[in-house]
Amino acid sequence: MEDELAVIECQRCPELCESRSRIVNGAGPNDADLLFVGEGPGEQEDSQGEPFVGRSGSVLDDALRNHGVDRRDVRITNCVRCRPPENRDPHKQELENCREYLEREIAAVDPEVIVTLGKVPSEHLLGRDVAVTKEAGELHEAKIGEGSWPLLVCVHPAATLYDSSQQETLDAALGEAVSLVDEEGGQSRLGEY
Ligand code: URA
Repeated sequence: MEDELAVIECQRCPELCESRSRIVNGAGPNDADLLFVGEGPGEQEDSQGEPFVGRSGSVLDDALRNHGVDRRDVRITNCVRCRPPENRDPHKQELENCREYLEREIAAVDPEVIVTLGKVPSEHLLGRDVAVTKEAGELHEAKIGEGSWPLLVCVHPAATLYDSSQQETLDAALGEAVSLVDEEGGQSRLGEY
């Protein structure tokens, strides 16, 4: 789905221009309350042009559904929009090259809560080292560009595929994120924040 936040053409990262099939933009409503930020597209995302549509995406979808949330109601994006070769972590310069697009997306969506999926987006947006498993479910204030947003650290959905004990951590963190924005029958708890 194209929207005005989509990056149509970019040549900033020579290696990623070689490895990508396409640019993978954020998906979901551009006024979503929850904005999930992953690391970068993998093989499935690169081939389908949408974030989190491979195995990690199924884990994320299931975990959201467990908390009564459909993925079409949240926005999902990545720190970098092009698949790195062999799914390696994005390099520092690549994260910086793509940051303008992510900052523009965050400012436009202006979510109630940003949820970072894994170490790379957590450290990229908090600007410090993050022990993700330890900090999962914690809410921080993240200064991003000209603004500041509540940011909840979460493990990457793929972590549950290698270590089943991470499922509980993922589930608890997502439950916390959903409850923070859930105003149905009650108050959003973000006032406390
Ligand atoms: N992992 C990510 O971090 N992002 C995706 O879009 C898919 C897998």
